[in-house]
Amino acid sequence: MTDKGQFEEGYQVPVQHQKAPGLEKDLNPQPLYDQLPTPDGGAQLYKAAGKLEGKKAIITGGDSGIGRSIAILYAMEGADVFIAYLKQEEEDAQKTKKLVEEKGGKCYLHTTDLRDRDNCKTLVDEAVRQLGGVDVLVNNAAYQMMVEDIKDLDEDQWIETFNTNIHPFFYLSKYTLPHMKKGSTIINNASINAYIGRPDLLDYTSTKGAIVSFTRGLSNQYVSKGIRVNAVAPGPVWTPLIPATMNEEAIKNFTSPMGRPSQPSEIASCFVFLASADSSSVSGQTIHANGGVIVNG
Ligand SMILES: NC(=O)c1ccc[n+]([C@@H]2O[C@H](COP(=O)([O-])OP(=O)(O)OC[C@H]3O[C@@H](n4cnc5c(N)ncnc54)[C@H](O)[C@@H]3O)[C@@H](O)[C@H]2O)c1
Repeated sequence: MTDKGQFEEGYQVPVQHQKAPGLEKDLNPQPLYDQLPTPDGGAQLYKAAGKLEGKKAIITGGDSGIGRSIAILYAMEGADVFIAYLKQEEEDAQKTKKLVEEKGGKCYLHTTDLRDRDNCKTLVDEAVRQLGGVDVLVNNAAYQMMVEDIKDLDEDQWIETFNTNIHPFFYLSKYTLPHMKKGSTIINNASINAYIGRPDLLDYTSTKGAIVSFTRGLSNQYVSKGIRVNAVAPGPVWTPLIPATMNEEAIKNFTSPMGRPSQPSEIASCFVFLASADSSSVSGQTIHANGGVIVNG
């Protein structure tokens, strides 16, 4: 670990491990969810401008990391949120609810396992009932676990990663779209790994490639109906997923061309843009919030 501040070039996160799925409350240091890093190595509160006034959003994996920050920035912009998460993450979810409420938003909590399609159906029904409608679907939940060589990648892990990372994006989009109207949006969390082909996360990387293609195809189905579908492809971001799924070497090298990992808030601000009218002519696209890696597509 270096003596650099968390938002300065050359910062290295302290090596730490958690049992999957990991909890934000145990992360050291704590990530930024309502502040953005500033050029002097500090941070400042996200500046909201009523961009999502009256909107209702479903956010999967909304208890922690990028999902928590999306929930908070959406609340700061005037939206109510419905967050879904695993039952082991109740403590993180309760904190997210409190933080959203402090920003003046409503936050409905829903524990579920998204790998089951019936659970996805129930999630949408519950969200529509509690929120009173849905304008934004954020498909954000995911699983990953490092395995260096395909020979050691268990067939069941391959299936479970697809069951977690891409099948629920299909189910939730299919079940939510009938409730959506012109101006509604779907935003999918992909990853830089779809573009750089990360070798030690082969199953995860493959699901993220599927998410990019799913985003493009679904956009082509719905763009003429006034519903936009986009993706964000983050690079390294400091969230519970990292100590829960990565080895010591990977955590030591957890950085970007900016010389540091990104903060959840730096990704969540892209989800605000894509949910708001500011992105009214953007559909089928992927925003590369990755710390400066140039990728194709
Ligand atoms: N952290 C990074 O470096 C990074 C980089 C690129 C992309 N991403 C993407 O960002 C998204 C959010 O991840 P994060 O980094 O904020 O980590 P995170 O651990 O905070 O969030 C992942 C969430 O997924 C949810 N989840 C996992 N399996 C589930 C299941 N079976 N049922 C219901 N929910 C389930 C959990 O609630 C968990 O909180 C993911 O799609 C991830 O692939 C993260």
